[in-house]
Amino acid sequence: MVEKFSNVISARDFGFLELLKLFQTAKEIKEIYKNEATRPALQYVLQKKGQSLFFRIITAPSTRTITSFEDAIRVLGGFSQTSPLEFTSWVKGETLRSLARCIGTLPDCIIIRHDKDDDAAQKFASVATDYDLRFITINAGSGKKEHPTQMIVDLFTIWERDQTKFVNGDLTYALIGDLSHSRTIHSLLLGLSHFGGTVFLVGPPEENIPPWLAQELSGTNLRIQKVINQLDIISECDYLYYTRLQENLRHKKISKEQKHLYWSLYGVTDESRGLMLRNACALNPLPADEGYPENIDLIDPRFIHYAQAENGFFTRMALLKLIFAPALDLRHAASEMGMVSVSGKLEQPFTIPIRSINAVCAGEKCQSVRLENHNWITLDPAIDEKLKKPKTICPSCLPHA
Ligand code: NCD
Repeated sequence: MVEKFSNVISARDFGFLELLKLFQTAKEIKEIYKNEATRPALQYVLQKKGQSLFFRIITAPSTRTITSFEDAIRVLGGFSQTSPLEFTSWVKGETLRSLARCIGTLPDCIIIRHDKDDDAAQKFASVATDYDLRFITINAGSGKKEHPTQMIVDLFTIWERDQTKFVNGDLTYALIGDLSHSRTIHSLLLGLSHFGGTVFLVGPPEENIPPWLAQELSGTNLRIQKVINQLDIISECDYLYYTRLQENLRHKKISKEQKHLYWSLYGVTDESRGLMLRNACALNPLPADEGYPENIDLIDPRFIHYAQAENGFFTRMALLKLIFAPALDLRHAASEMGMVSVSGKLEQPFTIPIRSINAVCAGEKCQSVRLENHNWITLDPAIDEKLKKPKTICPSCLPHA
């Protein structure tokens, strides 16, 4: 049984089944969105009684995560307002709990990204509980610990390309770079642990994933090995996941020399690319630093970070759909967006939107459908089985007719 989708605080909020449900939903939404005829079906997902749900976004600097949330909310018919964290009274010393309490009365959802506080989202969620406020909290990146929605993006990108191998734990991954500070690596590992696979953690000798994470991963289906030199393992990997030096999440400044050394060892080079399998893929949560050449995707199609970034939009739509409209049948809503051909007594057939039909005749072999204005009309050539409409009897099929 898939649990109810609610607050998203940690990658741990998603188990195997929840993730599969998310991937299926994201795939469905992607198809519906990419078809202009069915796209309008998405606009009712974040509406209740004709009113848009309201999302308040409080954020540290971000491009993909926040714009994909904003775009997802807009396409799904919700309403969002974004405030940079720097423009809140947090900079004057207000605590996150007080901030959450003050802004928490109105919104249906608060999306929070915080670069300093590992527990920012947890604090917001606990305020909602303590004060009985109705808002759902979504963690859009907290400190150096977690980035659960990026995890969904990354896993979906892999699932989409390699579904069977991924689900069976038959893939080999290299997570390369800032092992201690990259919250996307941390959350990705928690997500991968439900599926299994071989993981090389590639980084400088002094860097590694934090002890809390290593402990959580022990006993899972992941075979994890720390590696210092990426060139030793690249030719074994299906997925290379590059990360930048997380300067904004570190306490100490990094010198120019250290950066250049890091980029030469943990970035993309001609040598590293030369070792990549023909079918391998390189991912990057972005933003990239100088170790990951700009436009690399234009010369090497194995670098799919922009497709990955685009999936941020679809996976966040899927997440919002599962939280706020779990019962909505999107396939049905999308099929309502189609057109059918009708003729009736008219000389020439013409097309009408499926959603303008509110009933079909239950009479045997009858092809009549009732329109919103209660007129009956005949479908041409036959009532489509996919028309899931209430059944009734049309005037010409009534016994006395
Ligand atoms: C990541 C983040 O903020 O942790 N970016 C993102 O959300 N797409 C990775 C990074 O900043 O390097």
